[in-house]
Amino acid sequence: METIILAAGKGTRMKSKLPKVLHKVGGKPMLQHVIDAAKSAGSTREIVVIGSGAELVQKNFSDVEFVMQNEQLGTGHAVLCTKEKFANSKGTVLVLCGDTPLFTGELLKKFVEKHLESNAAATVLTAEMPDATGYGRIIREDDGTFKKIVEHKDANSYERQISEVNAGIYCFDIQKLFTALASVKNENAQGEYYLPDVLTILKNDSEKINAFVVDDYRQTLGINSRVQLAEADKILRQRKNIELMESGVTILDPASTFIDADVEIGQDTIIYPNTYLEGKTKIGENCAIGPNSRFTNMIVGDNVQAQFCYCHDAEICNDVILGPYVHIRPNSKISNKVKIGNFVEVKNSNIGEGSKLPHLQYIGDTDMGAGCNLGCGTITVNYDGKKKFRTTIGDNVFVGCNSNLVAPVTVEDGAYIAAGSTITENVPKNNLAIARSRQTNIENWNDKRK
Ligand code: UD1
Ligand code: CA
Repeated sequence: METIILAAGKGTRMKSKLPKVLHKVGGKPMLQHVIDAAKSAGSTREIVVIGSGAELVQKNFSDVEFVMQNEQLGTGHAVLCTKEKFANSKGTVLVLCGDTPLFTGELLKKFVEKHLESNAAATVLTAEMPDATGYGRIIREDDGTFKKIVEHKDANSYERQISEVNAGIYCFDIQKLFTALASVKNENAQGEYYLPDVLTILKNDSEKINAFVVDDYRQTLGINSRVQLAEADKILRQRKNIELMESGVTILDPASTFIDADVEIGQDTIIYPNTYLEGKTKIGENCAIGPNSRFTNMIVGDNVQAQFCYCHDAEICNDVILGPYVHIRPNSKISNKVKIGNFVEVKNSNIGEGSKLPHLQYIGDTDMGAGCNLGCGTITVNYDGKKKFRTTIGDNVFVGCNSNLVAPVTVEDGAYIAAGSTITENVPKNNLAIARSRQTNIENWNDKRK
């Protein structure tokens, strides 16, 4: 099955510099949702019609073909632009809109099956909309069969009361689609070539047209404005939360939990309120994440506890305890059984198994072994104002409070660093390094001062 996706429109009603189809819902550009649903319904080739902001749109998607529509003359014209791509095609083509991101692959599959069963030249998906404003209305014959679609702007007051709308999802016989498109006119309120007019043209040629009503109108909401964007986002997030809960994840307060469409979470993990799980984040089993945490593109193992944390583009292994107030930055790997808490930042670093960073540390560009214990206020000094350098810490190293490790520097296995040291030279294995001035006590100093 081949699919045409219309995504060339300006999205005027969004009042945005960003092309409409790049606006995110459920954490993913709306066009990506449409592409993903088409692929999961069995589509083998997706032709995306682009125009407004074409370059930017093109940059954001792979695995699809693009066709330019230089002037946005309407949805019918947009489909016509793909004609050459189908010169050798026969059978059925699915047509979707890039601004209708809520339908599932499952719905599309069912829709295509209905079309194929009915032997119709075209099938359109329709929905009973609680508020049909802005949508094309479905006009039916007295016997209930499809008659035509009237756009909101062209509809009379009687037609505007109809709540059944065109969802913008169609199946066509490829040959018949392009033949009919050639006779679509632009004599309407918007001066555009409307794709829905193809249905009337085919019907007048005595072809069979089917209109298939969706069970849940929320799958077919179109996004033309920021208000509709927020509504769609809410629906997608609710759907994601329900899907996760049904698979064995506890979400204490779904209303304050924001989980992006592609996030995966293992069984018996608990998500506490005010938590954001974003991008390609993958969380294992038996974890407790949140409250008040944000994970973006994170790989997280099993039995991880994290409260009040921001972690992004990094990996956390099993049995790790994080927080409160921890920032894990990109390219970090936190090994099994590590404990990090109370205002600690880790950047571009590897923390070995069972090491402890319990309070007020900055660890950047560091490779740390297993079983280390870092005192409160340990800092890896990784930047000289021009370049960044790495710090290497072996296994079972103990660093006293308020110490600086000035990179590049190596602290070998089993070494101890005295509190308050500023380490600028390597510390050999099992040595104690003290790098601070000795204390002097001046006897009776206060008496003399008087
Ligand atoms: C369209 C339908 C309407 C339907 C609604 C469903 C038409 C004429 N109307 O209205 O019946 O109820 O979708 O959401 O088809 N596009 C192009 N090139 C163009 C114009 C549009 O690629 O020249 C793309 C847009 O980027 C968008 C899609 O086609 O993704 C739909 O266009 P839009 O202007 O949003 O149509 P609606 O007014 O919503
Ligand atoms: Ca639209």
